[in-house]
Amino acid sequence: MNRILIVTLLLLGAACNRQETKPPASGDPGKGKQLITQYGCTACHSIPGIDGPRGEVGPSLDHVAVRPMIAGVLPNNPQNLTQYLQNPQMVNTLNIMPNLGIKPDEARDIAAYLYTLK
Ligand code: HEC
Repeated sequence: MNRILIVTLLLLGAACNRQETKPPASGDPGKGKQLITQYGCTACHSIPGIDGPRGEVGPSLDHVAVRPMIAGVLPNNPQNLTQYLQNPQMVNTLNIMPNLGIKPDEARDIAAYLYTLK
């Protein structure tokens, strides 16, 4: 029940305010930062604030918070970003970004960190 309410609020928020991407209400950017290191995202992405390799396989995630689209297909909002992180093949089955088995609460934390990258 709670989750449905949160998703509805996120959708409403996204619909009313397309210019500014708000971090997911329940996400913790500090935890997200740890999870990004733990999942090894920098093997493929250059991500400001995260130590490690500056992978070039995927796009740099600098300024990802202000990009209008995710993977060039999905409108960039918290709901779409958290879903994309859990299933990168959702919009492109050829995407080599692996499905890392990220859990919903982890995806919200990761998204919260990514939305600090303006
Ligand atoms: C094996 C390499 C690989 C790994 C590991 C990987 N990604 Fe990706 N990622 C990609 C590629 C390639 C794309 C581009 C896909 C496309 O545009 O269709 C991408 C796209 C993205 C996007 C969309 C960026 C945009 O501007 O559209 C985000 C956000 C993202 N990745 C986050 C992550 C996070 C967070 C992790 C770690 C949990 C991660 N990725 C792990 C390869 C990877």
